[in-house]
Amino acid sequence: MSRVLTGIQSSGKPHLGNILGAILPAIELANAQSEPAYFFIADLHALTTVRNRDLLRENTYAVAASWIACGLDTERHVFFRQSEVPEVCELAWYLGCLTPYPMLANAHSFKEKSNNLAEVSAGLFTYPVLMAADILLYQAELVPVGKDQKQHLEITRDLAGAFNRTYGETFKLPEPVFKEEVMVLPGIDGRKMSKSYNNTIDPFAEPAALQKRIRQIVTDSTPLEAPKDPDKCTVFKLYSVVAPTEAVEELRRRYLEGGIGYGQAKQMLFEVLETRFARERERYRELMSDKGQLEVILRRGAEKAREVAAQTLRLVRERVGTGAVS
Ligand code: ADP
Ligand code: TRP
Repeated sequence: MSRVLTGIQSSGKPHLGNILGAILPAIELANAQSEPAYFFIADLHALTTVRNRDLLRENTYAVAASWIACGLDTERHVFFRQSEVPEVCELAWYLGCLTPYPMLANAHSFKEKSNNLAEVSAGLFTYPVLMAADILLYQAELVPVGKDQKQHLEITRDLAGAFNRTYGETFKLPEPVFKEEVMVLPGIDGRKMSKSYNNTIDPFAEPAALQKRIRQIVTDSTPLEAPKDPDKCTVFKLYSVVAPTEAVEELRRRYLEGGIGYGQAKQMLFEVLETRFARERERYRELMSDKGQLEVILRRGAEKAREVAAQTLRLVRERVGTGAVS
């Protein structure tokens, strides 16, 4: 049985793609283990892009409420805010001192922006080192992440190896877990659903707003009676990941036969999303209207996380030769 850990940047409110593609599979993986998983909101990482205090806090709450609404058991697992465990910054420093410059200069998160170096902060440059510290501080073994994080996990393993070679066996090498079978959900404009494209669907939105959003999904101009290709239609693709199999097959048949309009398909998608997430929507609303409750949950998680963090750091300081000698 393995220790699962993942971090989620508080860079915006999670959307349907994040929920189906990342949150639910991570909770499932965590629940399949006998030991507690570590899930945290990476607010320190979010500072590389968010520079507004109220927005950062609001995003942190929205992420926390989404995970809890999706069923994360915060008694069984350790759910916390990265910034409440400052030990991570100390470990990041030790790791940073073992990080060769080219390793970071070749990381794609940095490379993408390196044609305009004036826009790159030291925080963005050392982002992968802080992420390695996040993972190693808790001796995580399995890290569920999207494919875009592959390189960051490789850096983490490299740094753990470098530390172990330099100071003696200290860290476990974590394994990434990529959820292969989840399809990339399209957004309302047909491109990948992403916060950056402003094309997301929020399944926790109030029903009227959800319905309005679904009506905005872009479709082609095939007339109502004509047969339609379900595999080219965003409405169908979204329906196929949330509706029961028989309902999906039924809709596929009707698309191929013709006689169903996109308006009707959108209504079906709305109804299935509305019911599928009814309980979660209610819980989300409840949590967001009581931030004190969220604070209590996160604080309790941070206390547990700090115990493990302190233990790791005691060992690390001993190995590197910092801190008081007892
Ligand atoms: P965004 O593109 O909205 O900024 P992130 O990069 O923060 O999303 O995504 C966090 C995780 O959510 C990803 O690693 C991935 O596993 C999942 N995810 C994001 N967008 C989608 C999508 N459209 N379909 C399926 N999963 C997604
Ligand atoms: N960089 C990750 C992302 O953008 C978030 C993250 C921060 C993370 N620290 C982590 C993920 C540690 C896994 C483990 O998605």
